[in-house]
Amino acid sequence: MNVRTMIDIENIRKDFPILKREVNGYPLAYLDNGASAQRPAAVIDAIGHYYRMEHANVHRGVHFLSQEATRRYEEAREQLRVFINAAHDHEVLFTKGTTDSINLVANCFGRKFLAPGDEILITAMEHHSNIVPWQMICEEKGALLKVVPVADNGELEADAYAQLLNSRTRMVAMTHVSNTLGTINPVKAMIALAHERNIPVLLDGAQAVPHMAVDVQDLDVDFYTFSGHKMFGPTGVGILYGKEHWLRQMPPYQGGGNMIKTVSFEKTTYNTLPHKFEAGTPHIAGGIGLGEAARYLMQLGFDNIRAYEHELLEYATEKLTKTEGMRLIGTAPNKAAVLSFLIDGTHPYDVGMILDKLGIAVRTGHHCNQPLMDRFGIPGTIRASFAFYNTKAEIDRLAAGVERAVTMLQ
Ligand code: ALA
Repeated sequence: MNVRTMIDIENIRKDFPILKREVNGYPLAYLDNGASAQRPAAVIDAIGHYYRMEHANVHRGVHFLSQEATRRYEEAREQLRVFINAAHDHEVLFTKGTTDSINLVANCFGRKFLAPGDEILITAMEHHSNIVPWQMICEEKGALLKVVPVADNGELEADAYAQLLNSRTRMVAMTHVSNTLGTINPVKAMIALAHERNIPVLLDGAQAVPHMAVDVQDLDVDFYTFSGHKMFGPTGVGILYGKEHWLRQMPPYQGGGNMIKTVSFEKTTYNTLPHKFEAGTPHIAGGIGLGEAARYLMQLGFDNIRAYEHELLEYATEKLTKTEGMRLIGTAPNKAAVLSFLIDGTHPYDVGMILDKLGIAVRTGHHCNQPLMDRFGIPGTIRASFAFYNTKAEIDRLAAGVERAVTMLQ
């Protein structure tokens, strides 16, 4: 694979057809990548080609097209294995996305391993999708949810984490990168600490995989989850990586076709991994598109992506903090390219509406992080989340737009 040697922004932007759009009479400045990123033509074309020329059901037919679709789908799985450096293809499960992946683990792991009085350890910066599934299974099993607090700068409180790990902890479930604060958590050390007590760790990698290389073997993580649409792939598809050791022990999630070996009215036996967890006809086009997105990112090279996005983040932080009354939420030293802020005397929603009139897309609100908002005592933030196709010129427009909003609203 030819990895590019730097971010050639002019050419990269040409890969993304939507970036040519105008919104409200202005060129689109798409700064809402944390919510969902855009797709390069390579991904759109792979999906189109599949539907035009290759579609049939997978893992079922002897006929040519079914075999071809199966091959393409399984090649995508292999591409995603390489993307996260998993040891085996069968540890890489296709799901509907991060939410689905976490629900799968909470349900299947919880059903097998949780008992009354057991504890699940999460953090105060989790997305609702890494809170609610655990809350639900804890309620069912009489287990308890414990929470690692977040410091004022948006880092996790390391001492509290170490103290909260105990003999009742059955799982640590935490985000790799915070969608609101941008904090990149020191997950490798945190996993090692949990493993000292034989506690498995699940990472929500939805906000990590678009920005940095992830190596599940190097992290030694037990479960890793991410979504296609945040990493420039399709919506409605994502990945659950799980160590074989755990996946083998967990019961299936859903029953149906493909996940069985034999079925009779008396007893069903289950298929091997990964099929045991993939009931029903999957999102075949989605899987193929996601494989293509992984290939695109690897060709771009994560060293290039990280260096360029870091430059964007520094530039944006410097520019935006010049606005009077601006309060940055999330100032950890190790951050992904996310800028969450509030402006005195304005509501995030109103600022977001004015930016939209100027063709600038940001997200406003609680970002599916209500407990984190409560922690900071705020109703929500304005969040600009960058990707490698954003430019300093777009950040200049954001800063000017925020100034304009402040003049209008204060
Ligand atoms: N989790 C997505 C976000 O942060 C939707 O915006």
